[in-house]
Amino acid sequence: MQSFVVRSTVLRPNLLRSSFRTFASSSARNQAVPTEKPVLNKEFKIYRWNPDEPAAKPTLQTYTVDLNQCGPMVLDALIKIKNEMDPTLTFRRSCREGICGSCAMNINGQNTLACLCRIERDTSKDSKIYPLPHMYIVKDLVPDLTLFYKQYKSIEPYLKNDNPPVDSEHLQSPEDRRKLDGYWWNQDEYLGPATLMAAYRWMADSRDTYSAQRKEKLQNEMSLYRCHTIFNCARTCPKGLNPAAAIAKIKLELAAD
Ligand code: FES
Repeated sequence: MQSFVVRSTVLRPNLLRSSFRTFASSSARNQAVPTEKPVLNKEFKIYRWNPDEPAAKPTLQTYTVDLNQCGPMVLDALIKIKNEMDPTLTFRRSCREGICGSCAMNINGQNTLACLCRIERDTSKDSKIYPLPHMYIVKDLVPDLTLFYKQYKSIEPYLKNDNPPVDSEHLQSPEDRRKLDGYWWNQDEYLGPATLMAAYRWMADSRDTYSAQRKEKLQNEMSLYRCHTIFNCARTCPKGLNPAAAIAKIKLELAAD
């Protein structure tokens, strides 16, 4: 059997002094290394409009942010600007992790979520930030969602069935249930991709018996057919959903009637 000897080292005072000196000098050396990152200024051009001055035209206001003093996402830059430069800048945000959708805006030409959109580190290019297009604006980057919720309500996004089972739940085959995967997420007269995808989610539900009425509501020039199938919605959906596919399926179903 092997035996182990544990040796304890007793540091003599002079040794202690010298080790302290070694530690202190190495710590001083570490302090001498510059830790500050160089300034990396980037310009953000942000859409501004103030409802208190309704006659004034919207403008693009420029803010310069040192990217080395800022988080990596566009939402970090917006928060920094609001906290440190201009408290009047107005935008929505909540979860900061791509769940709530509050920070949806148009960044460098793309509709996306500011909290999931990385700031381009190329400082020779500015970053342009607008509110979501085709929506009324409440202030700066805040779109008015009243119409969206009105449209969303209009498609009756809940199960409708006049013959609910008496003593059990609504049962569904696994196959029918699978048809709902990928649709469960939640301006005018065009309903828009989010609402249309929710509409299809209920049309595709085998337990719902109002499919004909749901389709009838969409049978007009505006609600559905204003979609020009440019796939912007599928490209930018932060949840990786495909509203364009849902819209295409509704169109097919309507054409088959
Ligand atoms: S803050 Fe919630 S999605 Fe960006």
